[in-house]
Amino acid sequence: MLTSLLDAKQSNILTANETLLNWVEEMAKLTKPDRLVWCDGSDEERRRLTRDAVDAGVLIPLNEKKRPGCYLHRSNPNDVARVEHLTFICTPTRDEAGPTNNWMAPGEAYAKLRGLLDGAMQARTMYVVPYVMGPVGSPFSKIGIELTDSIYVVLNMRIMTRMGRVALDMLGDSGDFNRGVHSTLDVNPERRFICHFPQDNAIWSVGSGYGGNVLLGKKCLALRIGSHLGQREGWLAEHMLILGVESPEGQKTYVAAAFPSACGKTNFAMLIPPERFKGWRVFTVGDDIAWMRVGADGRLWATNPEAGYFGVAPGTSEKSNPNAMRVVERDTIFTNVALTPDRDVWWEGMSDAPPPGTLDWQGRPWSRASGEKAAHPNSRFTAPMTNNPVLSRHTEDPEGVPISAIIFGGRRATTVPLVLQAFNWVHGVFLGATMGSETTAAATGAVGVVRRDPMAMLPFCGYNMGDYFAHWLAMGGKIPRAPKIFMVNWFRKGGDGKFAWPGYGENMRVLKWVVDRALGQTGGMETAVGWVPREGDIDLSGLDVTSEQFRAATRVDLDEWGIELESQKEFFAKIGATVPRALELQRALLVASIAAVRGK
Ligand code: OXD
Ligand code: MN
Repeated sequence: MLTSLLDAKQSNILTANETLLNWVEEMAKLTKPDRLVWCDGSDEERRRLTRDAVDAGVLIPLNEKKRPGCYLHRSNPNDVARVEHLTFICTPTRDEAGPTNNWMAPGEAYAKLRGLLDGAMQARTMYVVPYVMGPVGSPFSKIGIELTDSIYVVLNMRIMTRMGRVALDMLGDSGDFNRGVHSTLDVNPERRFICHFPQDNAIWSVGSGYGGNVLLGKKCLALRIGSHLGQREGWLAEHMLILGVESPEGQKTYVAAAFPSACGKTNFAMLIPPERFKGWRVFTVGDDIAWMRVGADGRLWATNPEAGYFGVAPGTSEKSNPNAMRVVERDTIFTNVALTPDRDVWWEGMSDAPPPGTLDWQGRPWSRASGEKAAHPNSRFTAPMTNNPVLSRHTEDPEGVPISAIIFGGRRATTVPLVLQAFNWVHGVFLGATMGSETTAAATGAVGVVRRDPMAMLPFCGYNMGDYFAHWLAMGGKIPRAPKIFMVNWFRKGGDGKFAWPGYGENMRVLKWVVDRALGQTGGMETAVGWVPREGDIDLSGLDVTSEQFRAATRVDLDEWGIELESQKEFFAKIGATVPRALELQRALLVASIAAVRGK
């Protein structure tokens, strides 16, 4: 059978790369597909695969007038989010993965998954998906090949990456590519494993069809394997959006920001400045992942390795993110959203209520009385970045864009002020390393519990978290013109239990303070835990926020910080001996500073 699979007459082999051919053959021998298709990334291929997906019931065509080129996919209800408890870093030793990752010995993981993959693609097609993460031709981009039996994965990878012939051309006859294998098997959580082999630059994912588990270029390669490569090669792979701010005078400043999953990275990356900020513009470079390197000019330069958005649908609306609403108007794959009777999509937060006759994400008639959500809380859209009306002109620049400020943010009802500037790089790394956030629906598990999520990388750091902190600290010494570091919190609540800050486009006011501070152009007030804006430092004109509310939003409460620093100590203790001493001392210094300013 194999000879016929790899026979140029029977299958459309697109490469003469021996290493690649041998590996595909080895995997085809194991998984035993009936057919093998090499993806070229052409429009003709997209049309053909889309037709196949519709015929197979994998995609439901949406209203061609309202949403041209758009489709709905309903996943298995047991397979709707990333599965952190089934995600493994398979390094030679447990210590290399560290205490925040699940670990499996590489030999054991290969054996277990080999067993599951044996014959897994019988009666199925194996798609060979070559892709580039990062601008095509950039020396910093990485090439991956994903073998998958899911047509949904192919169509999503086509949007999320530079996929097809371009990747094979860039690879040439090199053996330096990420080896990704994915089979949906029978979508059984008992047989679901997402395994990363950093030493082999390989990812094996079985038993799931959900984006974050199976679009291997994204979380698996660009972050887990990427962070490992970053440590080895001296760069940073981060869970960060990248945006550009342009002033009315035409000055452009770039900012990278890490927020945990489903905390508004996409909204922030596509922000529309409010009326008061006439002439200011925000451009999106990326909404989820940043690869950052030190440039010849001593600045930190960032590229977005992705080519599309895999965004959370619920909460996306004309109010929260008008640009995202434009992004999903065409050529978008929706996953687990509700379907209206005129074959349009709906999700919670898009409008007050869906039209009567709407089907929920599982295809069942929906009514408010059911008390259930119409769209799954982690329902998604996959859309090409070129749909974005505010896409930066620099997404294909091989070097990326120079970063002036790094922002860490979480979803915190208390403690963390609207914005806080770190005293210096080490303090900034400390703020990132101890970042906490209330959990969301992007991963399975309880929602709304504060968990430490260092640099928003807890689920994505491919090696020991303490070593990752050390890498961040060491990077500080290699960036002569290092970005300034900030922390933001759009989610702080006042005494009345309501959000203290209006958020959305109004976050431009905070962004402007960040940019001005990074460029040394505005004032602030030093507190024991960092710099905050005074009233007057942030432009509040035209905004319905009283002085009292502003003070509540930006307040540093040293009692709350005392509790915070204690709980950070517990988190460091969990990570253990690899936590750099500089961070332990930074924590002790903050505790001592708080005591000192209180005269204790
Ligand atoms: C994502 C996530 O999908 O962080 O971006 O979960
Ligand atoms: Mn993400």
